Amino acid sequence: MEILHVSAECYPAAKVGGLADVVGALPKYQVHEGAISKVVIPAYRTKFFHEQHFEIVHQGGVWIGRDWYHFNVLKEEKNILGFDLYLIDIPGLLDQPNVYGYDNDVERFLGFQIAVLDWLNEWKHLPSIVHCHDHHTGLIPFLMQYGYKYSHLKQVPTILTIHNAQYQGQFGWDRVYLLPSFDLWKAGLLDWGGAINPLACAIKCAWRVNTVSPGYMRELLESANGLEGLLRMEQSKCSGILNGIDAEVWDPATDPYLPAHYEAAAFEEGKYANKVAICESYHLDPSLPLFVFIGRLVKDKGADVLPEIIYRASQDHPGAANFLVLGSGDSEITYHLSQLQHSVANNYRFYQGYNEALSHQLYAAADFLLMPSRVEPCGLNQMYALRYGTIPMVRRTGGLQDTVVDFGDEGGFGIRFEHASAWDVGYAIRRALVLYQDQHQINQLRSRVMQIDHSWNTAAHHYINLYTSLK
Ligand code: ADP
Ligand code: GLC
Repeated sequence: MEILHVSAECYPAAKVGGLADVVGALPKYQVHEGAISKVVIPAYRTKFFHEQHFEIVHQGGVWIGRDWYHFNVLKEEKNILGFDLYLIDIPGLLDQPNVYGYDNDVERFLGFQIAVLDWLNEWKHLPSIVHCHDHHTGLIPFLMQYGYKYSHLKQVPTILTIHNAQYQGQFGWDRVYLLPSFDLWKAGLLDWGGAINPLACAIKCAWRVNTVSPGYMRELLESANGLEGLLRMEQSKCSGILNGIDAEVWDPATDPYLPAHYEAAAFEEGKYANKVAICESYHLDPSLPLFVFIGRLVKDKGADVLPEIIYRASQDHPGAANFLVLGSGDSEITYHLSQLQHSVANNYRFYQGYNEALSHQLYAAADFLLMPSRVEPCGLNQMYALRYGTIPMVRRTGGLQDTVVDFGDEGGFGIRFEHASAWDVGYAIRRALVLYQDQHQINQLRSRVMQIDHSWNTAAHHYINLYTSLK
């Protein structure tokens, strides 16, 4: 079986969030399962692009409306990721340092999808499955069925994985001329709510659709930013498959970013050494419990309530806990988090920006990881925290609900709360502080959570079963 993953991100070549982690790990585990799994992403001008070696495996040209672009398909030469990675290089369109955020993102990702399809058209042996991720690749299932040029690809099954249905990639019908010619009788498949909606189109046209946790699929059937009715209509082909984590990259016993290594059988000294290292760098007292937040500073992640949560905790429990936030995103949230350093001077630090190494160090150093997400299709952070012996504190939603059981419940190990509010999280922090006082209990929990297997083994298998059901 040969799978081609098409995505906007893939760790470590290009990462903004969890999508990259998934696309950088799932194929590797699929290869372990005996499949051939390949990934294609755009060739942004990232550090990875500049540092690695590539060979040109295909050349072509794409029309985006009236503009013509030459493109190269590059293959990473050394197979350093454990699977074949291809980059679509379109000078003048995709050769930017960042993944998203450009005025011409619609054209950029259209160009990417068309180039992938043109390249696929040339394959002598077609892949068994084309696996699309999120809206940036959402027009592929449609074009494979109804694009005139791609009739050759019709019989190849397509899968859409929805990592986040908040983002749908809509653009107006006035730009339909950007698409390659297709069967106009099928134009309705592109539409949702009067616009061209790539995510909706993929939900309609892909052979199977899945979300990254069962809980998120259940939520989307109720409320999906306007797509709930469509998902209910297409429900028979939809399912939820819980993400895994790359247990090779995220392993406190070997993680090259950590100053000290540890494992479940003997973690106390090593984990504490990581905490001391972070506390020294940030001038915090390591004897206090350390709460961290790592993530995009957006409302979906509940980042807007962090300043109030931290301020209130510092008032309710003066000098009793330290907080460290690592994140970048919304400017207003960033401003409030920066300002907070004046009012909670001794017990709070804010690292604004993206820092892969620091994220690893924080998962290891922290006692508790805060995730007050309003929306969390899966969430990988809580699983990284568990692997590093850090207790996740999560809002009961989406994938967080599927992966974290409250320590007050039978077999539980984390802390759960209902709302992304300072009140609810405040109560959860109070519970965390009590738990922290009982070193015996918290150490038992740490040792247990480190042994939970959230690796991709199980999920990779589920995906293979899903593909096989389409043959
Ligand atoms: P999402 O994809 O919605 O942002 P996930 O929990 O699936 O959320 O994945 C987030 C990933 O991005 C994790 O690997 C997390 O460690 C990482 N991450 C988020 N923000 C930062 C940051 N500022 N610095 C380093 N890593 C970050
Ligand atoms: C999205 C979701 C996140 C999920 C990730 C990987 O970014 O917001 O919850 O973990 O995709 O599937």
